[in-house]
Amino acid sequence: MDITQLILDDHQEQRRLLATIEQIDPTNTAALGAVWDRLASFLEVHAEAEEQLFYPELLRVGGGVDNVDPEAETKDAIGDHNDIRNAVAAVTDHEVGSEGWYDAITKANEANSDHMAEEEREGLTDFRRHAGLELRHDLAVAFATFEATHFAGVTAVDKDPEVYVREVEAEIATSDDGANDSPATTDTSLGIGSLHSD
Ligand SMILES: [Fe+2]
Ligand SMILES: [Fe+2]
Repeated sequence: MDITQLILDDHQEQRRLLATIEQIDPTNTAALGAVWDRLASFLEVHAEAEEQLFYPELLRVGGGVDNVDPEAETKDAIGDHNDIRNAVAAVTDHEVGSEGWYDAITKANEANSDHMAEEEREGLTDFRRHAGLELRHDLAVAFATFEATHFAGVTAVDKDPEVYVREVEAEIATSDDGANDSPATTDTSLGIGSLHSD
């Protein structure tokens, strides 16, 4: 298993659910609402899993890619996650199937599409180049466990990108023993990586 592949697979599932919404008749509001609710909760769980498990390890072992360092990759991602949460929340202001609802879905789609492209180009590429296979496997197991445990969703919480990176780097400074490939998927490693902090 490989956490970078699980994240790619999740992105594909997000694209698939949006494509599903595009193909449902606008009058079938029960179907539209059901598929959107599934996508909205999945987006939250996916972002939270990345924030708890992937980005702390990217900050720890990443080496940068295309002149973008892991701190910049992570700050961009955390900010994007906030934008996506806000766009997802805005959908609930509209009646399912209305013009305003479709416009809000389009904004959420744009925010998420832009973010996925950047995350795939930067963070995931960086991680494949610099993280060992054992770490990628162990994080994949933790990521799958988190998503299975939180299948019904998590509470959406925005995070300040600067504060997030500062707190993770402080955890790394106090907990890293210098072994770049030791998994950080338990409560005894990075506190932010806990599976039970939600
Ligand atoms: Fe993602
Ligand atoms: Fe993300």
